[in-house]
Amino acid sequence: MSESRIGIIGGTGLYSLEGLEITHREVMHTPFGEPSGPLTHGVLNGRDIVFLARHGYSHTIPPHRVNYRANIWALKNIGVHRVIAVAAVGGITGEMRPRRIVIPDQIIDYTWARAHTFFEEDLSHVTHVDFTEPYCRELRETLVRVARDIGLDICDRGTYAAMQGPRLESTAEIDRLERDGCDIVGMTGMPETALARELGLCYASCAVVANWAAGRGEGEITMEEVNANIAASLSEVRHLLGAVLKVV
Ligand code: HPA
Repeated sequence: MSESRIGIIGGTGLYSLEGLEITHREVMHTPFGEPSGPLTHGVLNGRDIVFLARHGYSHTIPPHRVNYRANIWALKNIGVHRVIAVAAVGGITGEMRPRRIVIPDQIIDYTWARAHTFFEEDLSHVTHVDFTEPYCRELRETLVRVARDIGLDICDRGTYAAMQGPRLESTAEIDRLERDGCDIVGMTGMPETALARELGLCYASCAVVANWAAGRGEGEITMEEVNANIAASLSEVRHLLGAVLKVV
């Protein structure tokens, strides 16, 4: 793969990258407003990377208020070509157990009222991007291969349901998502994935299962459980990111 700069978007629990030698932080203003925070530039395992915490560096921005357009535009504008986006999800189907890492291959958008496209004003541009394969195949395959090489028990595919949030789902909603073919459920995959495609970025997601989705586990979903599972999985995520950076 080329030597282009890699963007990493951190989700819930991932607000910094261990071992990142930070060179500088860059405050960006975009035509779409402010990103979730300054871009953190640095070097990790010899690679130039740019890190951005999707919910802000101290988690103050809920999923429906993230300025996805500003985040993606900012990354593109500073020369990022590939983005690995980390996100917490609920597990719906059998293999998607808590603490598992999933590299999704498909996505369904159930969000609403989010600024979801860059193609609003200038209709002389192509507006219908292909989204048959919503994630960058090359980057997905690299994540899967490297995860296996370092011995992680990951799931190499899955359909991600992007829900509006910030509340969690009802059991009936999860049943519906399963009937639709969804394996995991989160709140940030859209419009982020589609916006990356609109700007021609190679984008892949590294999803961390934080809990069984509503009605799939025992009783209520608690934030203690969610946070504990994310915290337990993040060392694997960091290991995977570090290893991927050595080969991309
Ligand atoms: N539903 C939606 N988003 C989530 C969940 C969930 O169960 N867990 C973590 N993010």
